[in-house]
Amino acid sequence: MNVPFYGHVRQYQGMKSEIDARIQEVILSGQYVQGPMLKKFEEELAAYAGLKYAIGVGNGTDALWLTFLSLGLGEGDELITNANTFFATAEAMWIAGCTAVLVDCDKETRCIDPAAVRKAITKRTKAIVPVHLYGQCAPMREIRKIADEFGLFVVEDNAQGIDARGDDFRIGELSDAVCISFIIQKNLGTFGDGGAIWTNHAYINDKVRKLRNHGSSKRDVHSMGFNSRLDDLHAGILSAKLKHIGEWSDRRIAIAKQYEIGLKGCDFLDLPRARPGYRHVYHLYEVETKDPADRNKLLDYLNKNGIDAKTHYSIAIHMQEGFPWGKDARVVTPLTNAEKSAASCISLPMFPELTDEEVQYTIRTICDWPKPK
Ligand SMILES: Cc1ncc(COP(=O)(O)O)c(C=O)c1O
Repeated sequence: MNVPFYGHVRQYQGMKSEIDARIQEVILSGQYVQGPMLKKFEEELAAYAGLKYAIGVGNGTDALWLTFLSLGLGEGDELITNANTFFATAEAMWIAGCTAVLVDCDKETRCIDPAAVRKAITKRTKAIVPVHLYGQCAPMREIRKIADEFGLFVVEDNAQGIDARGDDFRIGELSDAVCISFIIQKNLGTFGDGGAIWTNHAYINDKVRKLRNHGSSKRDVHSMGFNSRLDDLHAGILSAKLKHIGEWSDRRIAIAKQYEIGLKGCDFLDLPRARPGYRHVYHLYEVETKDPADRNKLLDYLNKNGIDAKTHYSIAIHMQEGFPWGKDARVVTPLTNAEKSAASCISLPMFPELTDEEVQYTIRTICDWPKPK
């Protein structure tokens, strides 16, 4: 059996008529950039989050750095995030001219460790950027408390956690802004690139809307800006998909339960841990081999048996060759948990259209692993 890692085509086949109708609607409207479909999707997205504003931009990386610029952040300002995230979290800080400060993650959830954040704060610290890694909310209450104590901005990197929730907080409730990615493999993904920002602050909304459109909010009137807009075609596709996000997350959670039950006897693996009461939406189902020396052997075995397992992320940001390429960065040690995670992580197939047979085959294959001595 072959078990794929992504299910985009299966998802499209399951809702072809809905997506095709939106694409036609946009094409026939004659307006493709900042047109009516983008406006409609932004309104739906804001209502879905229970936040005042949603602003569509070109991708999740732009969502982050445009937000940093809208907050007036730049050279000399330190922004704290975890070292075990996708590269773009730090990259966006560098694009904005800021200093990326990389700290350790929590041993169990792999989200940012509030104690490590506290240790990293200096006079130059301006913002904390927690990542809802793998689809689980970062400990936002603890992060908010630190931010209030030191007068810092909080920008959530929510590229991976759309539809996730904390125990008694929603995404966006405890921060200044939330940045989203709609690249195809995300839980809400388009057929290409896309991104958005959620915020309750009118000044962030106004500033980002101008920045994304050549510094313009009125025809022929410009200040310095960029071109980073969410096309109406993508907005239409995402609008059709947004209606399904709840049921897709529920299916991801059900698959995670199957993995949890089936793999609990595998003493060579650590399984993902959801914080009690949190809605973890499993953008990725990331297991770790207890012994980092086993990781590549198990990954190779899975791939040879038709299971398209991968790694997220096998090289922590500060371990990338050439880091930090002349950019301003600070690493706050120890980074023991982030480095252990990089050395031992494996992502198992996880998408809503995965069949129970594929999940059970993956479980059986892992359980039957003839662990090399
Ligand atoms: C945690 C995280 N931050 C930022 C990004 C950047 O998003 P994009 O690829 O849309 O620029 C991604 C995903 O790609 C991500 O996973």
